[in-house]
Amino acid sequence: MSMPAGTGAAPGKVILFGEHAAVYGQPAIAVPVQQVAARALVRPLFNAPSGRIRIQAPEVGVDTELDQLDGQHPLAAAVRFTLEAMGVQHPLAVTIKVSSTIPVAAGLGSGAAVSVAIARGLSGFLGHPLADEQVSAVAFEVEKIHHGTPSGIDNTVITYNQPVYFIKGQPLQTFRLGAPLNLVIADTGVPSPTKITVGDVRAAWQAEPARYETLFAEIGEITKAARRALEQGDMGTVGELMNQNHALLQQLNVSSPELDALVAAARGAGALGAKLSGGGRGGNLIALAAGDPAALQTALQAAGASATLHTVVA
Ligand code: MEV
Repeated sequence: MSMPAGTGAAPGKVILFGEHAAVYGQPAIAVPVQQVAARALVRPLFNAPSGRIRIQAPEVGVDTELDQLDGQHPLAAAVRFTLEAMGVQHPLAVTIKVSSTIPVAAGLGSGAAVSVAIARGLSGFLGHPLADEQVSAVAFEVEKIHHGTPSGIDNTVITYNQPVYFIKGQPLQTFRLGAPLNLVIADTGVPSPTKITVGDVRAAWQAEPARYETLFAEIGEITKAARRALEQGDMGTVGELMNQNHALLQQLNVSSPELDALVAAARGAGALGAKLSGGGRGGNLIALAAGDPAALQTALQAAGASATLHTVVA
């Protein structure tokens, strides 16, 4: 008898509005990015006792028994939280092979996507596919180990794979775009783990709470206005609000000379708006194309972007 393999997949994501302020309860908007993905392929491991799990993630040089990994390791944690959510202690022996085309430490949600792919692939293979809510919760638990104080937006948008209007701790809100969103994503090439910038903003907020809470609230107002503009398909307003959001992220001290230079290049090349996206300091920015995205991509590459990606969010 041959046993079917289980597969789990998850897209990347970008934050359109409200990063960082989301951690403090302000709304944020994120959309999935289908051009990149994480995958987990789960197969039976024959002649091995139940409970044995082999994990392979060639891109990060992992090929080992699960119990050889530190329990805090994101791959180990994703497997453990998945089994806990299923109420299973000694599953059939399996090999889990993880692969991903989502750049790491770039603000595109690679960590959450890998966790979602593992939760789906493993629970599906074991015959009890977890519901989306549980999958999202598994990824959130892993995020907490590595990001300290995540808002939960990354695991939410990646699990549900549709545009989300996210408020920490509140039920999921999705919404419809009034017109397709023509986005160019450009990588500074500077890796920047979200944990660091989120921690820095927290320290700055603790030192000057009133000043930072005002900035978070201003970002929240921009996000609310952006939702209306997105629903109406008013791309001119969306672009203007992106520019305003970027200025506030500069004040939060999470931009960088590389990000600012690429944002300026995007605007100079006719983008309707541009801003950093995700944790900041490095990683990616997003630019809203007015017309031909290829021209915008060329301009961003000429200005030093290490990679660009065009995505249409409908
Ligand atoms: C990361 O994609 C978005 C941040 O707001 C962190 C979070 O919300 O957990 C920077």
